[in-house]
Amino acid sequence: MLDQIKSTATYIQSKITTQPEIGIILGTGLGGLVKEINIKHTIPYEEIPNFPVSTVEGHSGKLIFGELGGKNVVAMQGRFHYYEGYNMQQVTFPVRVMKFLGIQKLFVSNASGGVNPNFEIGDLMIINDHINFFPSNPLIGKNLAELGPRFPDMSEAYNKEIIVKAKKVAAANNIKVQEGVYLGLSGPTFETPAEYRMVKILGADAVGMSTVPEVIVARHMNIPCFAMSIITDLGVEGKIVEVTHEDVQHVAAQAEKKMTLIMKELMKEL
Ligand code: HPA
Repeated sequence: MLDQIKSTATYIQSKITTQPEIGIILGTGLGGLVKEINIKHTIPYEEIPNFPVSTVEGHSGKLIFGELGGKNVVAMQGRFHYYEGYNMQQVTFPVRVMKFLGIQKLFVSNASGGVNPNFEIGDLMIINDHINFFPSNPLIGKNLAELGPRFPDMSEAYNKEIIVKAKKVAAANNIKVQEGVYLGLSGPTFETPAEYRMVKILGADAVGMSTVPEVIVARHMNIPCFAMSIITDLGVEGKIVEVTHEDVQHVAAQAEKKMTLIMKELMKEL
């Protein structure tokens, strides 16, 4: 795996002229951030050696290099989900590569179902911790000491300093933000009412199908992480209704402006 990471990073370095300081995974709700990036280079995933290629959405993703809020960034437009059939190493491979490209921080977004009764549809939630409820962990297998320790610390999976800054940015722009624990599980089914109840009892505020593997791998390599979620539906007793992918996309599109603004302004504060 190490050879693959290195050769992929070397290939990408031959195509770019600036070194990214910050990696961004443009999950649900951050698609619009691309318009704010002063783009210097774009590399489609299918041109990148060893990169998994997205299959589900019909079009593959790309790596975008450019400047955002005065910082050099690399943004993943399109991420790899475990439910698509990729293994944990494939899901997290781009994070490994971004580390070798020089990123010093990782920003992530996603959509999730809220199980905290104080949450409303369309809320933004700063993720302050997670519960790995995926059936696996991307670090299972031989540990590569060059990447990180066998037993990585997870006491601050989501960087406290960045969270403080993000809350200040949100307040300064009159944007309401929630804060809470994200529980990640495989999907692709949305949760049954009993499963939402379980998620709440387990101590989470929201549930989704991404982010946890990428953050585990980033923390393995000691990269500080920041993640935000859009609460697109509620798994709260009495408020549970049918959920479709379209509903999730629709709510996310409405909340996108707020999330984009926070992320862009936050870049300037780092
Ligand atoms: N459950 C899991 N993933 C999700 C949800 C949900 O309710 N909403 C958006 N992504």
